[in-house]
Amino acid sequence: MPTVLITGANRGLGKEFVKQFLEDDWNIIATCRNPDPLQWNVSQSNMDVFPLDVTDSNSIAKLKSDLANRTIDVLINNAGIIGQRDGFGSLDYSAWAGAMDTNVFGPMRIAEALVENVVESDRKQMVFITSRMGSITETSPNAYVYRSSKAALNMAVRCMSLELANKGITAVLFHPGHVQTDMGGASAPVIPKTSIAGMKKQILNFTQKNNGEFLSYDGQPIPW
Ligand SMILES: NC(=O)c1ccc[n+]([C@@H]2O[C@H](COP(=O)([O-])OP(=O)(O)OC[C@H]3O[C@@H](n4cnc5c(N)ncnc54)[C@H](OP(=O)(O)O)[C@@H]3O)[C@@H](O)[C@H]2O)c1
Repeated sequence: MPTVLITGANRGLGKEFVKQFLEDDWNIIATCRNPDPLQWNVSQSNMDVFPLDVTDSNSIAKLKSDLANRTIDVLINNAGIIGQRDGFGSLDYSAWAGAMDTNVFGPMRIAEALVENVVESDRKQMVFITSRMGSITETSPNAYVYRSSKAALNMAVRCMSLELANKGITAVLFHPGHVQTDMGGASAPVIPKTSIAGMKKQILNFTQKNNGEFLSYDGQPIPW
């Protein structure tokens, strides 16, 4: 079976990705900052759990070494933070830098570290969970930190998708919807099951023609 690696797999959307790929008997590499053995049914032979903080280069180097010679068909960069919510006049630049570290540098560090594992796989897919709040076309005057981090992620991945196309990689940016997680809040209109089912259905059908796209979980393209 193919292998999927998921960052931020311990809760929210990452946890639902794990659940739904397990239901299809994929090999799972679940990563999170603080793996809790009680949370994971690691007795399943197709499930591995590794510690990973996407802001920590030592943690990434250790994962890269642990995964040497393992292929990754689908690399899902899911981990992210909302960051500071205050607006203009109260911006905290150190908190802003922290959000960029997690939401932009983190996924790019992982992509750079694990690109060869993906290139050696059959599917060669990289998925980046962004947000339509990173769309410059659709923006509103709030959430400077989160919006700018996701807009920067979009540009970095779009750039990378052009560069890695000749390696056969398909890199796609997904808006998961406004989803009921710790980040999305209890009153969000979409439940994790629907969001992940929508993205997974597309992932299974991606071809290289999808490289560099910015899509919603329901398949709709989102303007940059
Ligand atoms: N929910 C929504 O409505 C929504 C909408 C648009 C986009 N998104 C995006 O979807 C993705 C998942 O969000 P979610 O709703 O599932 O959020 P969530 O419930 O807050 O979960 C966030 C996940 O990211 C992990 N994480 C944060 N910083 C990390 C780091 N430095 N290293 C490793 N893992 C880290 C968290 O781990 P810990 O448990 O260790 O903190 C947690 O597993 C994010 O990229 C988010 O921006 C969500």
